Amino acid sequence: MKNKNSHIISFVLDGEVVDIDFSGAQSLRPTTTVLNYLRSLPNHKGCKEGCAEGDCGACTVVLAKYEQKKIRYQAVDACLIFLPMLHGKQLITVENVGSSHKLHPVQEAMVDLDGSQCGFCTPGFIMAMFELYKNTSIPTNDQIDDALTGNLCRCTGYRSIIDAAQRAGAKKARDHFSQQKEIKKMLGGIHTNNIQLSNKNQVYHKPCDKQSALKLIQRHPKATIVAGATDIALRVTKNHENIPEIIDIGDIEELKKISSSKSHYKIGAGASLESVKAFSKVRLPALHKMLAVFGSKQIRHLATLGGNLGSASPIGDTTPVLIALKAIIVIEGKNGARKVPMSKFITGYRKSQCKAGELITEIQIPRARNGALIRSYKISKRKDLDIATVSAGFRVCLDKSNIPTDLMLVYGGMAEMTKRAVKTEEFLSGKVWNRKMIEQASNMISADFNPISDARSGARAREVMAKNLLMKFWTETTKA
Ligand SMILES: Cc1cc2nc3c(=O)[nH]c(=O)nc-3n(C[C@H](O)[C@H](O)[C@H](O)COP(=O)(O)OP(=O)(O)OC[C@H]3O[C@@H](n4cnc5c(N)ncnc54)[C@H](O)[C@@H]3O)c2cc1C
Ligand code: FES
Ligand code: FES
Repeated sequence: MKNKNSHIISFVLDGEVVDIDFSGAQSLRPTTTVLNYLRSLPNHKGCKEGCAEGDCGACTVVLAKYEQKKIRYQAVDACLIFLPMLHGKQLITVENVGSSHKLHPVQEAMVDLDGSQCGFCTPGFIMAMFELYKNTSIPTNDQIDDALTGNLCRCTGYRSIIDAAQRAGAKKARDHFSQQKEIKKMLGGIHTNNIQLSNKNQVYHKPCDKQSALKLIQRHPKATIVAGATDIALRVTKNHENIPEIIDIGDIEELKKISSSKSHYKIGAGASLESVKAFSKVRLPALHKMLAVFGSKQIRHLATLGGNLGSASPIGDTTPVLIALKAIIVIEGKNGARKVPMSKFITGYRKSQCKAGELITEIQIPRARNGALIRSYKISKRKDLDIATVSAGFRVCLDKSNIPTDLMLVYGGMAEMTKRAVKTEEFLSGKVWNRKMIEQASNMISADFNPISDARSGARAREVMAKNLLMKFWTETTKA
């Protein structure tokens, strides 16, 4: 039965529940970004547009979610979120951080330590620091760096901003967000039904559970699936595209579950990369290492593992390491669920085994056995917030004679899709895992790949990087 609220989204802003009804003709569309919405309001111009593509952090806001009786705060880029993604959450902007008569401790520290000059980036930094303040008791330098990676400042320089984050974090006090009773009541009162929003040339579905999502996807196979929208939003903000039909799976809890069994780790396709990063730290260090240099915290709070696989990009960071981890992708559609080995999942340039009418629902990663050594590498122009020039996921087991078994050398950025260096693997088969053999094997990389030259790198440099990564893997895995 259609619920009377199904065309309305509700969220908390400025201490009140805001309802947006898309059924009438109005200027807001379902794909209006939160950045553009805020800038259309008289009192929320602190949210700035720098790049409109998630790179500068000037638009950072914090979303608060009421989960398991707790409020969880996450910094995100407002330029990448569509309005319906606010449903059921509290939207906190720089105007809300201080109370009417007092600056917030993060604001005080920025003022006291001269953390701002022109001020354009400052609201974004304040929001990133506010999230850190709420979630981390006394942040380490690494945690501060990680929290600020997604924010650019062109004039102050980062020293005084980092000092301000340190000072605010060192003497934690209650702030006006510590009193959560009212907010919890408001968030708890917002409906959790399926939503369908229509406006002019656009229909936006927001199913509340997996079954509803699967039904919708089968009924509307041409609709665009959106999870975190960190890829899809750019089609709207940069290409000014009208996406006629969207199915937003971003708030389906069943798709966010992460669990362990004796044989496997199971990661819901809708789990945010920030939660996968936390889960993988001890259990899957090669995946964790890749996620530590994936975008920024603002991106990882939104981006999902399913979305990274769904885009099937030749430079997607997680694909090489997931192949080396022998992951299995669970895809569901009208004939039920099927499992596809990650090594067969990508079929071409931005093409995968997931067809129209289907949904990636889970990524299963077997626990490594037999002393398998698995590593991941990413080479990019900058360490953080950059696209890979060349990436890799490698796996090897070494027998008693130091001969590789179960060898997988998987490269991203070297071809139109993520690929194994099959000829190099064949060359190393049965040979001793020593420097001489690796030097000889690395010459085979030219036979495996014919990379292109582009803005990031020349073809020859890519080849050298690929060879050097193999040598690096050997140095990290050799017993000598
Ligand atoms: C500033 C910035 C930095 C970035 N940095 C990196 C980086 O370091 N490394 C990297 O690899 N990428 C990076 N990206 C790209 C992007 O963040 C990732 O690809 C991300 O994992 C996409 O996930 P998402 O949930 O946001 O996907 P969405 O944008 O929601 O969707 C992406 C694609 O996957 C499809 N899809 C989503 N979920 C599913 C599903 N469950 N089943 C089937 N199809 C699905 C969608 O239809 C769409 O085609 C960056 C993007 C930005 C804007
Ligand atoms: S405007 Fe640059 S990250 Fe949003
Ligand atoms: S203070 Fe000017 S960009 Fe940061």
